[in-house]
Amino acid sequence: MRSVGIALCCLLLFSVAAFGQGVTFNKDVLPILQARCQSCHRPGEVAPMSFLSYQTTRPWAKAMKAAVIERKMPPGGLDPRYGHFVENFSLSQTEIDTIAKWADAGAVEGDPKDALPPVQWVEGWRSKPDLVIEAPPFNVPAKGWVENMIMVLPNPFKKDTWVTTIEIRPGVPAAMHHAGVRFAPHMDGVKYGKFYWSDIKRDETGIHVPGQPRPERVTFCSADQKDVCPAPEANLITDGAGAGFEGFYRPGGAPLDYAYYKTAYLIPADTDMILSLHWTPTGKPVTDITTVGFVLAKEEPRRQLIMRALKPRGNDGWNDRVRWRIPAGAANWEAPPKDAIFNVDTELAVMSIHMHEHGKDMKYMLMYPDGKVETVLIQPRYDFNWQMTYNLEKTIKIPKGTKIRVMSHFDNSPNNKFARDPDRDVYGGEQSWEEMDAPWIGLILPKGVDPKNVYTENPGDEATFWNPTQSN
Ligand code: HEC
Repeated sequence: MRSVGIALCCLLLFSVAAFGQGVTFNKDVLPILQARCQSCHRPGEVAPMSFLSYQTTRPWAKAMKAAVIERKMPPGGLDPRYGHFVENFSLSQTEIDTIAKWADAGAVEGDPKDALPPVQWVEGWRSKPDLVIEAPPFNVPAKGWVENMIMVLPNPFKKDTWVTTIEIRPGVPAAMHHAGVRFAPHMDGVKYGKFYWSDIKRDETGIHVPGQPRPERVTFCSADQKDVCPAPEANLITDGAGAGFEGFYRPGGAPLDYAYYKTAYLIPADTDMILSLHWTPTGKPVTDITTVGFVLAKEEPRRQLIMRALKPRGNDGWNDRVRWRIPAGAANWEAPPKDAIFNVDTELAVMSIHMHEHGKDMKYMLMYPDGKVETVLIQPRYDFNWQMTYNLEKTIKIPKGTKIRVMSHFDNSPNNKFARDPDRDVYGGEQSWEEMDAPWIGLILPKGVDPKNVYTENPGDEATFWNPTQSN
């Protein structure tokens, strides 16, 4: 008996030593979970299981190994060769190996004395808002899909106001796919607090009927377009025509702190607050009350941050049904480039990726005036579940004359688990099963530069526009 006991013990010791090299939860794995996983994997947050303690984490060891090796988790991971971002979205190879070794060696707890103190997670707000606005409640059904909702609320600020953070906080994080806030000129007759969605013609599967003319596009009229806008109720606000979101929520993400870049965002007094809200059914009906918090700037900043969405080439971007069409079954369709040339010196601070269910990858490149190309971000495995905004650790200086090109690919083949009907062409639209091709950028401008003149979009001929001398 004794000899069997000794043999077993030594076998175990041997396997731990050979495969796990003494990797333990407390010493090696917990620090990774605290830094990279717990923002979502804790009670009340978006992920279904908690990785706060050994007891709750242990059953997931094998699944964790698989998820990190496939780079499924943490979500939103970029190609680590390009760009350094404030939140790090990709695990290092060492971190991946640590989790894998720990799982292989029996997911050992280790000495509690090795454990770091628990992170003091803030319940609810990540920032310290000076003012909080509550949106009307929304009933999220148990099943099916919910249209992307748009709502207009009165601007809470009576005079021009500089803010350093806009944080969106869903009442039920698990039911919120993403949410955005922006400010747009007030329109007469707009109904505050009403949920709108763009009602285009669809068949019973929810897909826009092919071959039928798309009904008049529903867009928000900016101040300079006012005279061509039809009645406000009908032409509400959908795609944000050129405007990025100033505040953006995605599960597990911290809100953008403009103060990090020593800048602030200006909310003009004569605007309305526009919320774009996308809920996902979770299997049981819930009522969500989303709140928006504002952190006011202590003083007027010397530099201003603006958010802008870039448009694909073609007649009206992704609404060009000739150029912007993903053919049925196409596994790697290249969308028209999103091009712009900068007219002033500026700095790039934020990059974001917004596509819908067919989105596959996106790549951001800059071409400096000397023709040298620098790739600044590559998302090689876009996943519709994760709408990410990437904040550069250090801004990139953009001299006047620099060009930006963003390329994206889409998958409308049966390989894409999200593609609802790969036998049909897909066009641009507001809803998840239609497509968007919307990179957006955050730029820092010296005060006094007119945000409207910062860049010219999609100028000239697309082939001669991009004429690099060398690339990284
Ligand atoms: C931004 C939020 C977020 C972060 C950060 C995150 N997760 Fe997740 N994770 C989720 C959500 C939501 C799910 C459930 C839905 C899904 O599988 O996508 C999930 C599911 C999982 C699963 C189950 C996957 C499966 O195949 O069933 C594992 C394992 C996991 N996460 C591990 C990790 C690890 C390890 C980390 C850190 C290295 C991490 N996650 C970071 C949100 C997150």
